Amino acid sequence: MLLLLDAPNLGEREKEMLLQCVDSTYVSTAGPFVPEFEERFARYLGAPAAVAVQSGTAAIHIALEELGVGAGDEVIVPALSFVASVNPVLYAGAFPVLVDVDADTWTLGIRKVHEAITPRTKAIIPVNLYGNPCDMDALLEICEQRNIAIVEDATESLGGTWRGKPTGTLGEFGCFSFNGNKLITTGGGGMVTARDAERAKRVKFLVNQARDASKGYYHPELGYNYRMTNLEASLGLAQMERIDFFLQKKRMFARIYKEALDGLPGVALQKETPGAESAWWLPSITVEHVSVPELQEALRERGVPTRRIFSPLHTYPYLQKHAPFPCPNAERIYEQGLNLPASTANDEESVRRAAEIVRTVLLEKGAHE
Ligand SMILES: Cc1ncc(COP(=O)(O)O)c(C=O)c1O
Repeated sequence: MLLLLDAPNLGEREKEMLLQCVDSTYVSTAGPFVPEFEERFARYLGAPAAVAVQSGTAAIHIALEELGVGAGDEVIVPALSFVASVNPVLYAGAFPVLVDVDADTWTLGIRKVHEAITPRTKAIIPVNLYGNPCDMDALLEICEQRNIAIVEDATESLGGTWRGKPTGTLGEFGCFSFNGNKLITTGGGGMVTARDAERAKRVKFLVNQARDASKGYYHPELGYNYRMTNLEASLGLAQMERIDFFLQKKRMFARIYKEALDGLPGVALQKETPGAESAWWLPSITVEHVSVPELQEALRERGVPTRRIFSPLHTYPYLQKHAPFPCPNAERIYEQGLNLPASTANDEESVRRAAEIVRTVLLEKGAHE
């Protein structure tokens, strides 16, 4: 079986649901599936409310807008993430402050956050990188003391938990992505979960061009078209039927890699945050003794697709001025890190084979020295 890195897992149910949309002509925002998907998603997480949007990026942006984040405000973001964690801060007109991540868990560390907080800090965006939840206890405490909002970037951690609570339900808002490579997909789409159901209503209003439908086409505020479509939500509902199965597979794949690679000298798996259960969206390693491009090429030749870690955000020209402190961990993890294949369309046997190949190649390249 061909090994897949992060391809979606789609089946007959998805086809059936899409056909229902086509047959009913409800392909755009109207139709039953968006509210059904929102309801089902909120219930799955135990969140008071959820609002479906066009992407994870839109989810983060609209959460910041609803919090009133804007010019003169600072927002703390980890330096190691996908660029969509930080761009919405700039869309909102605020100033991102990039801080380093923990060397082992690859997520925001409280000590670094402490250093970066100023009286202008309005929000923090903890990113649960590759599915691994941040240590939220200290973060929640300091945010409460200082009246700072938490917008969880849970785009990669659907299914992960912090002290038994699902990621995305711990801050004011939780943001999810249903891009094709995520745990569940709607093609492209996202979700905002809210701790306060009233706030969710406001988000629903803002993503629909801030339309007051009681007055027809009347828009009393600046809004956005960030609506999800019925087509997308139909896929989301089909995928929700198998979400636990997908999650079990991700966790099984992580265990397989751990068994095969843990303990190899110079090789480290991303460490699950103590107190958290990772969603293991993409199991990832760092390697000390071989260059990542060389390792990637050797694995590619043997049929194992891999992916490099995100470039640290402060290395992009337009973000250089946003990192007031050094970020050596983000830089090292980027230099040495690799995501391993974990599409839920893979079966157990092929991931066992992948793990064995990774182990063999690492040993050939000198992991035993
Ligand atoms: C960490 C992180 N944040 C934000 C996003 C944005 O999600 P989307 O691609 O749906 O806009 C993604 C995923 O792509 C992501 O991995």
